Amino acid sequence: MKKEFKRTLVTAALPYANGPVHIGHIAGCYLPSDIYCRFLRGKGADVKFICGSDEHGVPITIKAKKENTTPQAVVDKYHKMMGDAFKEFGISFDVYSRTSSKIHAETASAIFRELYDKGIFTEKETEQYYDETAKQFLADRYITGTCPRCSNPNAYGDQCEKCGSSLNATDLIQPKSALSGSTPVLRKTKNWFLPLDQLQPKIKAYISSHKEWKPNVYGQCMSWMESGEGLQPRAMTRDLDWGIPVPVEGANGKVLYVWFDAPIGYISATKELLPDTWEQYWKSDDSRLIHFIGKDNIVFHCIIFPSVLMEHGGFVLPDNVPANEFLNLEGDKISTSRNWAVWLHEYLEDFKGKQDVLRYVLCANAPETKDNDFTWKDFQTRNNSELVAIFGNFVNRALVLTHKFYNGSVPSADIYTKEDLLVLEELAGAPDKIAASIEQFRFREALSELMNVARLGNKYLADTEPWKLIKTDPARVNTIMNVALQICANLALLCEPFLPFTAKKLAGMLNLSALSWNDATKTDNLSAGHTINKEELLFEKIEDAAVETQIAKLKKPEPIAEPTTSKPVKEATTFDEFSKMDIRTATILEAAVVPKTDKLLKLLLDTGVDQRTVVSGIAQYYKPENIIGQKVCLLANLEPRKIKGIESKGMILMAENEKGELCFVSPITTDFSNGSMVK
Ligand code: 2FM
Ligand code: ZN
Repeated sequence: MKKEFKRTLVTAALPYANGPVHIGHIAGCYLPSDIYCRFLRGKGADVKFICGSDEHGVPITIKAKKENTTPQAVVDKYHKMMGDAFKEFGISFDVYSRTSSKIHAETASAIFRELYDKGIFTEKETEQYYDETAKQFLADRYITGTCPRCSNPNAYGDQCEKCGSSLNATDLIQPKSALSGSTPVLRKTKNWFLPLDQLQPKIKAYISSHKEWKPNVYGQCMSWMESGEGLQPRAMTRDLDWGIPVPVEGANGKVLYVWFDAPIGYISATKELLPDTWEQYWKSDDSRLIHFIGKDNIVFHCIIFPSVLMEHGGFVLPDNVPANEFLNLEGDKISTSRNWAVWLHEYLEDFKGKQDVLRYVLCANAPETKDNDFTWKDFQTRNNSELVAIFGNFVNRALVLTHKFYNGSVPSADIYTKEDLLVLEELAGAPDKIAASIEQFRFREALSELMNVARLGNKYLADTEPWKLIKTDPARVNTIMNVALQICANLALLCEPFLPFTAKKLAGMLNLSALSWNDATKTDNLSAGHTINKEELLFEKIEDAAVETQIAKLKKPEPIAEPTTSKPVKEATTFDEFSKMDIRTATILEAAVVPKTDKLLKLLLDTGVDQRTVVSGIAQYYKPENIIGQKVCLLANLEPRKIKGIESKGMILMAENEKGELCFVSPITTDFSNGSMVK
């Protein structure tokens, strides 16, 4: 018998706070989870939607090194950026928390400690690469070397991106530390392991009780357990300095493994949202826990996190883990490093007010059962031929005619024909059809059922031709228009989970309020005599130029740089000459493009002795918002010059790369204050 649940806790994978959100993330888990939660809310269910930023782990420290800043500065920047973009896109989290919060550190430490005290972990000494120059153990991503399989000289300690092999750092030929460039040495270190090998029977029993899971998820879990040696112990602690300190004596310099702490982030975020009642969602048998994720997260949500919860005791286990496959872009894998992505914040900027178009396209094309492709042409076609031509066109015709024939007042339906009754029957059946698909996490199918309602309306108007009948049979037109308007009203209710902005706009045009999903089984939501508001276009055509601009914006993969042909060393100078130059360190506090130029940035620098303005020709290479906090070397005693009417006091020093682009010179350490002399 199907279990009855009183409440549902829906989580969407916590994105790493090391970069902005792109369409692959959205299609992977944020849009489906949002549709699911909006649907449940519409039905009046008790649901909470949980997310937040994943702020620990090596991806964050790598980004900080790259941006020459601190991990905290990185997560602060991207946490805000991602939270803002999700909100503007209509992802309706009840809480968007973060794993650098105090409540999270406390929660994750307490869970680790409970498992430790129960003797669940096994302590093991292993050999890990250590960088003697940087004086730290190296996470796999910090070790590069030659791939033993394909000889790619730039393979990482966990993976070769050229041949796709998954590697151990010790497999690499001629390993090198990405921190200092030195050859790392193997050193013994102690860590705490979750004995997944011993836990396998329990995990297998749990997963086997969920044959209803999506085949990709169920199949992957089973194949890990059944192939080779089955599950292997996995370290839950790491030798790193960014993360939650391991709450055990003698664990100095070690932090919790990011995949131990991140899923616990769902619990801490629920605590943050519901300080008094969070346990109802996590600890009662009548609560349902659902994790929406991308396929690369399956092992962590189906095996590791449930093992932690089981061994701790008292928590419900995930009831379903609907994982999506990957979304590609224009036939190629989305890649942050190659800038082959459509960034959500840029889409929101370029297509203002068109959140629902992207929501529609990503749902219609969701990678639910296999990897799928997003193309700008398809985006345009789906907008123009589906949203505009079917949904928008139907609603527009119905509303325009209502204003024209009845001054905006809903006419009464007196006599229904057989055709009308069939249409109304189909309309009344739509919510259950859409619901059945959503409940099985088939969002593409659900969206197509929704569009069938708009198609039904379009066809009904085309078949009945009220614009022709108005002269000869006005009574019949009353009924036709009443039916058409009921379809519009129900569309407004049914499209809310998928197209929340459109739902709101349409409800406003129909002057509808206080109705929700459950009302869509009725076909008389608009009573005769109800006045509707003026119509507006729900969707606008997208022209070729708009998508062509987007295609051009996608940066093609950079060609592999040719070895630099260095310029010859300049003629000798004297030390005295050199010492006349006052070069010192400074930090960029503010940056803005100089109006009416495309090359110049006006920078405000903290030089340690003063704050001063410098105009620099780097606008082609850096966006102002990305360089706040950047450390620079400043030639501080260069004669002030007026550039575009701005007094520039000094010059920042940049490196010119082989393509003639100017780059910041990133120091290995930033352990110096502003105003330090550069000698
Ligand atoms: O893959 C990722 O982006 C991870 N940050 C997902 C974490 S999900 C959860 F466990 F927090
Ligand atoms: Zn390889």
